[in-house]
Amino acid sequence: MCGIVCYVGNKQAGPILLEGLRQLEYRGYDSAGLAIQDGNNIECYRSKGKIAALESRLEGLDIKGTVGIAHTRWATHGEPSEKNAHPHTNTDKNVFVIHNGIIENYYFLKKKLKKNGARFRSDTDTEILAHLIGFNYNGDLNDAVRKTMEQVEGTFGLAVIHKNSPDEIVIARRGSPLVIGIGEDGHFAASDVSAMVRYTNKVVHIQDNEIATLTMDNFSISTAQAKPINRKTETVEWGTEDTELDGFPHYMLKEIFEQPDTIKNAIRGRLEQGEGVPKLGGIMPVWDSLKESRHLVIVACGTSYYAGSVGKYVFEKLTEIDVQVELASEFRYRKLNFAPNTFIIALSQSGETADTLAAIREAKRKGARLLGIVNVVGSSISRETEAGVYNHAGPEIGVASTKIFTSQLTILTLMALLLGRYQNLSLTEGVEAIRAIQSLPEQVREVLSQANRIEAIAEKYCRYNNWLFLGRKYNYPVAMEGALKLKEVSYIHAEGYPAGEMKHGPIALINPEMPTVAIVPKDDIYEKMISNISEIKARKGKVIAIVTEGDDKIKELADDVIEIPPTLQFLNPILTVIPCQLLAYYCAGFLNREIDKPRNLAKSVTVE
Ligand code: AGP
Ligand code: GLU
Repeated sequence: MCGIVCYVGNKQAGPILLEGLRQLEYRGYDSAGLAIQDGNNIECYRSKGKIAALESRLEGLDIKGTVGIAHTRWATHGEPSEKNAHPHTNTDKNVFVIHNGIIENYYFLKKKLKKNGARFRSDTDTEILAHLIGFNYNGDLNDAVRKTMEQVEGTFGLAVIHKNSPDEIVIARRGSPLVIGIGEDGHFAASDVSAMVRYTNKVVHIQDNEIATLTMDNFSISTAQAKPINRKTETVEWGTEDTELDGFPHYMLKEIFEQPDTIKNAIRGRLEQGEGVPKLGGIMPVWDSLKESRHLVIVACGTSYYAGSVGKYVFEKLTEIDVQVELASEFRYRKLNFAPNTFIIALSQSGETADTLAAIREAKRKGARLLGIVNVVGSSISRETEAGVYNHAGPEIGVASTKIFTSQLTILTLMALLLGRYQNLSLTEGVEAIRAIQSLPEQVREVLSQANRIEAIAEKYCRYNNWLFLGRKYNYPVAMEGALKLKEVSYIHAEGYPAGEMKHGPIALINPEMPTVAIVPKDDIYEKMISNISEIKARKGKVIAIVTEGDDKIKELADDVIEIPPTLQFLNPILTVIPCQLLAYYCAGFLNREIDKPRNLAKSVTVE
């Protein structure tokens, strides 16, 4: 949820920390702050609002120091305010700590600390960490943090500095991401690599219940029981250019337009034309079991859940496998009884979503095998699953997930096609599917070329306060995703519905003030969708139809039409979602919303 960035080296820490915060702001942004150590003095500055407010606060100040920690917050305990912004300090103001996560036993600890004379200044759970570390400190900051880890329950990714340990930063992790960066001018730590790719592409991921001490020349990792750990250095695929806007007004629009390339990245080196059989090296470690499995459970949240919902239909079309798709936040509370050789596929862009992590841990306890489809290399889900496939989509900065949705659909389709070709799918069907998949990047580009027309449609309807999205079969989850996109970025209320359900209630909503986006490509339930559209028109509802190119019948019915190129039915969602993404984006623009940082949202939901 929040963003953490730290630096210890031979450069002034201030500019490095602020640049890191700017890269992390998409993770959570209701307040921000930093603490910089110069010898035995620590200066701490915090502000409510976005990073820009902190930058204004620091303007003109000549803050010296080459050791520092910084934080952009997404509040869980204590309203967004300067006093609740991180870093937090202890009574004597010699400890400064930043934290991502929730300390679940903070209330009990706060009472106990107050009895021991601690004076609290904030309403947050985090502040108890500063007091505890202060109490536990006896000259060894790493030891003080280790003792504190034993006392707190809940999740943390934390970083701490102490006035009397001037040349080091201690970080610790339980349930919230942290990664160490190895630079030429010192060492970094951050919530994710985007905060440090400007300075290094050499990183080391620390894992749950591990603690590390960083100095200018070195870093050391150990377990919570002080057992040293040697962890291999990884090289980040991304560069700073991946985190720039490249002339786009918003990351969301940039990432919508990146989709021809990100779909190419998802299929690169994975399509073997001759035999109609994709290659997915990442799942080969479990292939012998996976190819015999007849039970799959796809687990995810939000947009990733809707991608998994499309995946269910695709697996049912291409394989003989029984597929469930589950909301991670619900799945983990279910009484789970898995058939033998059941595989879980965890879908997650960030690889850090707390609900999805918790769900796969519960599934593992109940004997399921774990696979991941993840975008962030080395993320928790990628490390806690036995095998999996990376999206290689580059960082997704916009809070509203777009390019990842189509990347996830592409990879799920490749996985289903691979398994299907070892089941009942013929060579011809396999070759036909691969040929259609290879055409997708160009076809997505064709849909994107209608952006101006879609923008005009958005302008026509953006003042309506309630929208409906309708689809059937493969496009029902696209209707759900389209509604989520519109809600997330424009704040317009929107509902996605299976079109077949209209007559069971929602049709009562239809009126001239309620636009309906009907996803109605030429497929085997096209006529049923035509009926839905007719029923809406008969009640003076307005219809924006997403159709297959050349569909003149719909043009007589719908108020506005957006065309997509023809493709195989199970590939339609990769094309039908693009107009939904653009409608949401442009509506948000006309309504002057904070498109890349919608209110109340954060990019990676690392709290439950
Ligand atoms: C989608 O636009 C949202 N940002 C959100 O629903 C997101 O898809 C969800 O939190 C899952 O995130 P993940 O893919 O990183 O696990
Ligand atoms: N629970 C802490 C707070 O509310 C940290 C929240 C976060 O992860 O940003 O300040």
